[in-house]
Amino acid sequence: MFDIVTYGDPVLTQKAEDVTSFGSELEQIVADMHAAMRLDHGIGLAAPQVGISKRIFIVGLEDEPLRVFINPVITGMSKETSEYEEGCLSFPGLYFNVVRPAAVEIEAYDIKGKKFQLKADGLLARVIQHEYDHLEGILFIDRISPVKRARALAHYHRMLKM
Ligand code: NI
Repeated sequence: MFDIVTYGDPVLTQKAEDVTSFGSELEQIVADMHAAMRLDHGIGLAAPQVGISKRIFIVGLEDEPLRVFINPVITGMSKETSEYEEGCLSFPGLYFNVVRPAAVEIEAYDIKGKKFQLKADGLLARVIQHEYDHLEGILFIDRISPVKRARALAHYHRMLKM
């Protein structure tokens, strides 16, 4: 079982590396990520958040089967944006609004190594973009203005001391 890595760990700000082999080892990582995400009641988790700097993320929306994205590439983004309150398992208790494209197109490999394409909007598009950012070493605090970022981090550090 993996522990979730929290803000401050350098793995969260590194660019993750491509997955180069599919098979039982990868399946075990994904299964363990799924268990860790469920335990923390998350709807998305990226491998760097469990200390593994690989291009893997999962999305588990309510009443939907788990979606697994290996070596994903975002191939399109809508001009239309939406604002939505996000959290991140690597920042327990911190939530704030983030503006992102409302819809995205993504290509990735599934757990068996089969390539797929997906068009997503709504919450799925939101979670895909948040998790994809983790693979680039980008965190949701990096998607808001510097003033809001400083405020959010100050709030987060105050919460940690309580
Ligand atoms: Ni996150």
